[in-house]
Amino acid sequence: MDRFVVTGGAPLRGTLPVSGSKNAALPILAAALLVEGRSEIRNVPDLKDVHTLLTVLRTLGAQARFENNTVWVDATNITSTVAPYELVKTMRASIYVLGPLLARFGEAKVSLPGGCAWGPRPVDLHIKAMEALGAEVTVEHGYILAHGRPLKGGTFFSEVSSVGATGNLMMAAVLAEGRTVIENAAREPDIEGLAEFLVKCGARITGHGTSRVEIEGVSKLSEQTFAVMPDRIEAATFLAAGAVTGSTLKITGARADHMRAVMNKMEEAGVHLMVQGDDIVVSSPNRLNAISVTTAPYPGFPTDMQAQMIAVLSLAHGQSTVTDTVYFDRWTHVPELQRMGADVRVDRNVAVIRGVRKLTGAQVMATDLRASAALILAALWADGESVISRVYHVDRGYESIEKKLQAVGAQIRREREP
Ligand code: UD1
Repeated sequence: MDRFVVTGGAPLRGTLPVSGSKNAALPILAAALLVEGRSEIRNVPDLKDVHTLLTVLRTLGAQARFENNTVWVDATNITSTVAPYELVKTMRASIYVLGPLLARFGEAKVSLPGGCAWGPRPVDLHIKAMEALGAEVTVEHGYILAHGRPLKGGTFFSEVSSVGATGNLMMAAVLAEGRTVIENAAREPDIEGLAEFLVKCGARITGHGTSRVEIEGVSKLSEQTFAVMPDRIEAATFLAAGAVTGSTLKITGARADHMRAVMNKMEEAGVHLMVQGDDIVVSSPNRLNAISVTTAPYPGFPTDMQAQMIAVLSLAHGQSTVTDTVYFDRWTHVPELQRMGADVRVDRNVAVIRGVRKLTGAQVMATDLRASAALILAALWADGESVISRVYHVDRGYESIEKKLQAVGAQIRREREP
């Protein structure tokens, strides 16, 4: 296992390039299972989660190759419709193979993903979504078993806006007979990206990016080349790096239009942002102001930036509140930030942050992906040295984060845990 050693206080300066989006790439790679042929997906981030999904695809019999951020998936000969526990337990997004397998082969057996570091994450909506297409779904011995051939278009109203369930249903519906309507569909750019890939392959989808998506089933998808969009959470984490260290940084290759909620909140706190085409320049000359932030499905403030925002606000002037309405108990970063001197109290799904003038370096432990990013941000401006252990979490979702930060002057190095 690796850890990061960070010496805080180094001003940052320069350019941080944004990688392809993890959460857009994962469903697109799973969707390649729908194509009898070879898909070429470009701008795929080199991340542990991506490699886990490629391993799942190979287990199913697909050929999958990763080279220089391009992935080739040939799903012509699929030999299994089982996604095993050993792989799914390491990454919840493996559940994205459910819809494509069911649509193309009439059956799928996918392990239940299990809980996350911060609490339970149900899959009931994924199951109901498959049932809306006429599939029979049972849960036995820790596996979701789904059967249905042919799938028939139907209407699905999602009680909660779910990125994963919307994506899974979209993938299943593109090969179903007739018309499917998804009401209260997730509007995240990741879902739009998935729809754009499917449409390029010949699917008939309209309304993606809105809460009502319509899909007219087709009999076959054709092989295509597609490029994944920039990662809005990585880009926003880099904005937070500029904000927390009071540095001027240029974030390149970003989609500011995907980041409005985060950018608005940062500006409200006093961060200066300038959009120049695909680049965003961040600077924050003064101590930031306290603000209130509430997470919500897109286009609201993303729960995947909640931890990083708490790191930023822990140094702001005054009392901030951060409410997470998507995951009520996603607070594993809070005790670790407290070890660094942050004054944060959590009551149910609300964190109250009293800004302090200084954080101090400490030994801390990363417990999930975005929590790890928050600890790195805090360590960048803390007094002295921080040791962040279990960075395999950050490797799940940030491509070469320490190398990118070193290039702008951060004192961060990776070493093996003794
Ligand atoms: C995706 C993202 C994750 C992000 C989350 C919310 C990927 C790979 N992951 O996860 O980074 O934090 O969106 O933006 O894209 N829910 C149910 N039943 C279900 C499914 C979800 O009740 O069957 C609830 C969840 O508990 C949560 C809400 O719906 O409260 C949203 O979750 P969802 O959008 O499904 O998250 P994921 O797709 O798993």
